[in-house]
Amino acid sequence: MMVKLVPVRVLLLLLVLWATGSDAQIDVCGRAPLNSKTDSRIVGGQDASEGAWPWQASLEIRNGLCGGSLINNQWVLSAAHCFTSTSTSGVSIYLGRHNRQNPLSSNELRLGASRIIVHEDYDSKSSDNDIALVQLDSTVDFTDYIQPVCLAAEGSAFPDGLDCWVTGWGTIQTGVSLPAPETLQEVDIPIVSNSRCASSYNTLTDNMVCAGLSAGGKDSCQGDSGGPLVTKNGSVWVQAGIVSFGRGCAEPDFPGVYARVSQYQSWINNQISTNQPGFINFQGSTGAATFVSMSLPLLLSVPPAVFSFFVLS
Ligand code: ARG
Repeated sequence: MMVKLVPVRVLLLLLVLWATGSDAQIDVCGRAPLNSKTDSRIVGGQDASEGAWPWQASLEIRNGLCGGSLINNQWVLSAAHCFTSTSTSGVSIYLGRHNRQNPLSSNELRLGASRIIVHEDYDSKSSDNDIALVQLDSTVDFTDYIQPVCLAAEGSAFPDGLDCWVTGWGTIQTGVSLPAPETLQEVDIPIVSNSRCASSYNTLTDNMVCAGLSAGGKDSCQGDSGGPLVTKNGSVWVQAGIVSFGRGCAEPDFPGVYARVSQYQSWINNQISTNQPGFINFQGSTGAATFVSMSLPLLLSVPPAVFSFFVLS
């Protein structure tokens, strides 16, 4: 009898731990203690303040520059087109980085990659599925300067005109590099609905989301690729897009095009088995959505906890 009971208890305990712990990033993601924005490389932007975007990663890929976002303690989300191969040699990832000056500041970490996963259906012609994951060669501890971002859950909606921010060290105009000391740039741009955006780009797919001004002047640009397009959901920042492509940069009626993160919740969860990133179902700027989505993992942890109380006691 005893022999049979122990494995059952262990199994139940594991079940409880799994149910309560698998979505652990939801409790930490998207917090930016040093970001003073109250609501929600780069053309038409401004210097970010240090620590404002603590998930921003800088990727140096054998002379190529890309952005990325930290999504848990060992994975960075980026764009498929940043990687011409999945070889990890010559790939450096910087976290907690404010400018690209050397030596590194005390808030910065430089890591290597242990694995690069490019989406199997990435199409370089249409840029469909322009998403990749980079595993860091060691896990990182979060600080005020290094924090994971929350990701938009499947079914999220980003309405036309929604205010978003994009960040990066890319060019400040087509062909014009960011001048020294190359401080991280930020710019706010509104979402452009897919139906409007499709009149600018005939290759637009449901896996893309657009952002920009009809008048142009503000955009991401070369070198910003792979970096995050985020919006604020209550007190938490959620990543809506990954910098992917555009016709030129900041041109009128040609918004920037981003990989639509919410289309990839299961793809990401299939690649990352432990410490899955925090996903938030974003539905606009109302506070109600925040409450429901944030409390869902908590709600889900109640039945197994109650169950285990009765069975294990
Ligand atoms: N493909 C570019 C890169 O590799 C990003 C272009 C973004 N373009 C734009 N207009 N938003 O860095």
